[in-house]
Amino acid sequence: MKVSVIGSGYVGLVTGACLAEVGNQVLCLDVDPAKIALLQGGGVPIYEPGLEDMIRRNAAAGRLSFTTDVAAAARFGEIQFIAVGTPPDEDGSADLQYVLAAARGIARHIERPTVVVDKSTVPVGTADRVRDAMAATLAERGADIAFSVVSNPEFLKEGAAIDDFMRPDRIVVGVDDAHAAELMRRLYLPFQRNHERLIVMDVRSAELTKYAANAMLATRISFMNELANLAEALGADIEKVRQGIGSDPRIGYHFLYPGCGYGGSCFPKDVKALARTADEHGLPLRVISAVEAANDAQKRRLADKIIARFGADLTGRCFALWGLAFKPNTDDMREAPSLTLIDALLARGATVAAYDPVARDEAARVLAGRPGIRFADSMQSALDGADALAIVTEWKEFRSPDFADLKARLRTPAIFDGRNMYDPASVREAGLEYHAIGRP
Ligand code: NAD
Ligand code: UGA
Repeated sequence: MKVSVIGSGYVGLVTGACLAEVGNQVLCLDVDPAKIALLQGGGVPIYEPGLEDMIRRNAAAGRLSFTTDVAAAARFGEIQFIAVGTPPDEDGSADLQYVLAAARGIARHIERPTVVVDKSTVPVGTADRVRDAMAATLAERGADIAFSVVSNPEFLKEGAAIDDFMRPDRIVVGVDDAHAAELMRRLYLPFQRNHERLIVMDVRSAELTKYAANAMLATRISFMNELANLAEALGADIEKVRQGIGSDPRIGYHFLYPGCGYGGSCFPKDVKALARTADEHGLPLRVISAVEAANDAQKRRLADKIIARFGADLTGRCFALWGLAFKPNTDDMREAPSLTLIDALLARGATVAAYDPVARDEAARVLAGRPGIRFADSMQSALDGADALAIVTEWKEFRSPDFADLKARLRTPAIFDGRNMYDPASVREAGLEYHAIGRP
């Protein structure tokens, strides 16, 4: 099939590359000329394991190409994915300006019946707005071209995006007409493996499913974070509690890891947007508002522990920081808990020596203009001259450090671990203080 993808960010590139990988012809569009020039030259603007190889392979095979030409993209695909950003508006609701601009761009140039697919995370009712925007644009052109609007939310996780797309747990398709349903079924047939993965439903339910999934996952994390804080006060170990409850299949082990808060481009904004939708309908989701407040507090938790240990005035102190990205295997810094910690430490007069295996450049861009932060070339060199170590992202290379070396390099041998990476007894045996989340 011929597929256009509007928006070449995380979701657009992964969708485009994976659809090309199974034999489709794919054209990816973006409004950012620098991004498209990089992609045309064989580069990839984001760090996502496996993506660069997949893009190269499919571009070389002539199945995947990139453009800034809206008309070319609109005329190319019989299916057109909209995968542009939906950032939070000032009131927390999803800002749909990019989605609607993409829809108008398609309608301005299509020449044959087209299925338009909302891949971006969008509030319930957006498919109707996309349909209206396209209909109005077609009417301005005086064109009578049939089109359908489908909701096909994406569930990939950054860092595991290729695997999530190629071997999905489920593919949700919200659709109102049989032709579009059949086209989507054919498109996703190569991803079905041995089981039916396609869950076909009405458009509004599909739109809500995406927010429900992210809000449920965020709720689990916030619940565990609050329980971890309570465990600290009670002298219990949240990691034992996690194992104890996760073994119940009704609860399960996934997304029960307490830490220094969830970040990323999705949970924070999707929780906000769902809360906003509920408020608009006079049916406030009290649980979700609590999830958001709990996460805001949890992101400050490591700074609170450092202040409790060293005092409110941190002037002249330096803290080593391992991990900047909002999670491992990505260079994405959006809403990263590291930013909250860095700002809190800098505001109290401290300096920060940060190390991240891949997010250094992106972090330097995001943190530009903040004096008092330096980026180290290795996890060891970040420690030199530091008072103590804080860990915010659980990269694999942080899993078994040389604790003796760590102790020798730090002025105060203390670790503030926001991801519970170590066995508390082993750290203490090595002569280090260990301040973790929810552990005695
Ligand atoms: P992103 O910011 O990485 O990429 C969006 C891209 O769209 C940018 O490159 C931007 O230049 C481009 N763009 C904006 N307007 C355009 C237009 N009119 N025409 C063409 N290109 C345009 O965003 P993302 O992380 O890929 O997220 C996209 C959507 O997918 C969001 O709604 C997000 O919530 C959702 N989502 C993201 C993830 C994820 O892990 N990042 C997972 C599932 C769903
Ligand atoms: C999340 C969802 O997991 C995806 O299914 C969804 O498609 C995506 O949002 C989206 O809509 O964009 P992602 O943001 O890439 O994916 O990353 P996650 O692995 O979900 O982690 C999000 C945050 O939660 C990270 O900061 C992570 O450290 C934190 N987290 C995760 C925890 O604190 N504890 C956990 O047990 C799991």
